[in-house]
Amino acid sequence: MADEAPVKSKVFTLASGPGAKVTPEPMTLVIFGASGDLARRKLVPAVYGLWQDGQLPPLFSLVAFARHPKSDEAFRGEMREAVAKFSRGRTVDAKAWEAFAERVHYRVGDYDDPAAFRALGAQLDRQAAEEHRPANALFYLATPPQTFPLVVRRLGEAGLSRAGAQAPPWSRLVIEKPFGSDLSSARALNEEVLRVFDERQVFRIDHYLGKETVQNILVLRFANSIFEPIWNQKYVDHVQITVAESGGVEQRGPYYDHAGALRDIVQNHMMQLVCLVAMESPLSLAADAVRDEKAKVLRALRPIPAACVPEGLVRAQYAAAEARGKRVRGYLEEDGVAPGSVTETYVAMKVLIDNWRWAGVPFYLRTGKRLAARLTEIAIHFKPIPQVLFGAPGRGPVEPNVLAMRIQSNEGITLRFQVNVPGPAMQIEPFQMDFGYAEVFERAAPEAYERLLLDAALGEPTLFTRGDEIEAAWTFLQPILDGVRQCPVRRLPSYPAGSWGPAEADALLEADGRRWSLVRRPAKTA
Ligand code: NDP
Ligand code: BG6
Repeated sequence: MADEAPVKSKVFTLASGPGAKVTPEPMTLVIFGASGDLARRKLVPAVYGLWQDGQLPPLFSLVAFARHPKSDEAFRGEMREAVAKFSRGRTVDAKAWEAFAERVHYRVGDYDDPAAFRALGAQLDRQAAEEHRPANALFYLATPPQTFPLVVRRLGEAGLSRAGAQAPPWSRLVIEKPFGSDLSSARALNEEVLRVFDERQVFRIDHYLGKETVQNILVLRFANSIFEPIWNQKYVDHVQITVAESGGVEQRGPYYDHAGALRDIVQNHMMQLVCLVAMESPLSLAADAVRDEKAKVLRALRPIPAACVPEGLVRAQYAAAEARGKRVRGYLEEDGVAPGSVTETYVAMKVLIDNWRWAGVPFYLRTGKRLAARLTEIAIHFKPIPQVLFGAPGRGPVEPNVLAMRIQSNEGITLRFQVNVPGPAMQIEPFQMDFGYAEVFERAAPEAYERLLLDAALGEPTLFTRGDEIEAAWTFLQPILDGVRQCPVRRLPSYPAGSWGPAEADALLEADGRRWSLVRRPAKTA
């Protein structure tokens, strides 16, 4: 009789993440801009989540630094509400919250005031001395990007950067996105930061890298032997990456109107997804080995020359529309958006990677706000079969295989292949084999910010972008931005809010004899 022993899953315990055995050293997290939207919706709920799950050391503390005067009590109250509202699936445990809140302090200070930074340093030293521990500090820049250089400078002047320190206390710096608004500002920011901190102390956030399903791209590719041999131009026809958002610009109109989809999503999240799909196997999982391979992909991107209408690029803006019986505002009606703005809320583009593996394989990227659904999907479209047997005239061509990785939502992996429908005549139809995280694993994936905060606290940089990666991504984007700047237009093509984007994006693929497609997975059942 065949051996029918159940297949056991092999559990690897990583340095961080759920099930991690390692706890960071005693430390203080200092959030600059703690009165802001990011701190409230993402950072503090993530820190509290880690605390409640026992992933932070007992001698952890949080210093919230901002200009608005506020008492510790008032800040703690606001954060309790924020945690209750935004924390992922957890109820706030009263006892855990009480212990956590005691370790949260609000510090009023101006980002330009050297004395405020010296006082912050004194506070960190005092608390560490009282607790008989080193004054380790994780500084988190959650202020508007134009203030990043200033805060970094002030940290250096106050002696808080501790660059070159070989022993505790250590300092680390987490920098939010956007890292620069073009190539020269990104370079300048890198220089500013590296004047004060060593690269190994710097953690540049791209929160997509903290998503479990994004990390799983590498596992799918390199922990399985069946995909690697076909993961190249011999077998892959093209790749589609969709980062679709159903929401609009929300409260972030003023920021978004200066950024647009190219800077907000393409330069960072989208480029990171391209890297993970296209990179060679790294020599190890060490941070620099992984980042070296990602940087090579970015450097191999074929430049899109500056032009008034850059080849292979579509930019568009959402227009007001009815969706589910409700009128949805157009981009130009959003708060904080300049009248007549020509900032793009949608981008579709064709990207080529000039290396041996991917020569001639187009990567079609699209991202937008106010699209029909919130969904991020990477789909590898394989080459069609020679249509001599099954694709004979009268039967129509047989659809090629597609392997889709659903990053969010309804996370999973789907393989589309052909089957013969039972019956007297041969009838070939595509069928989908699905793997869904929610159905297979009982444990929910941690929030991206939980994973990233924990990794930064542990000094583990793999899921953060290195300075050269960021500059390589900007190098690719810069000619496109130049073309857009040099050729002002009065309006952009538009798409109705709640649709899948403008007709121009469909035409981009149709010109290559292809079309956008999403591999829908059945929604999970309760
Ligand atoms: P906010 O505009 O809410 O700013 C955060 C805080 O920074 C403010 O509450 C303010 O606090 C302080 N601040 C310091 N200097 C200034 C200034 N010159 N103008 C306005 N505020 C200032 O930003 P978010 O919280 O939305 O974002 C923080 C950072 O995170 C930004 O760099 C952003 O790009 C990034 N980010 C945000 C995301 C989000 O979803 N919100 C997503 C991804 C990245 P005070 O006045 O009390 O000092
Ligand atoms: C941020 C962008 O980096 O990512 C936002 O600034 C965007 O505009 C967000 O909405 C999307 O992140 P997520 O995790 O919701 O896909």
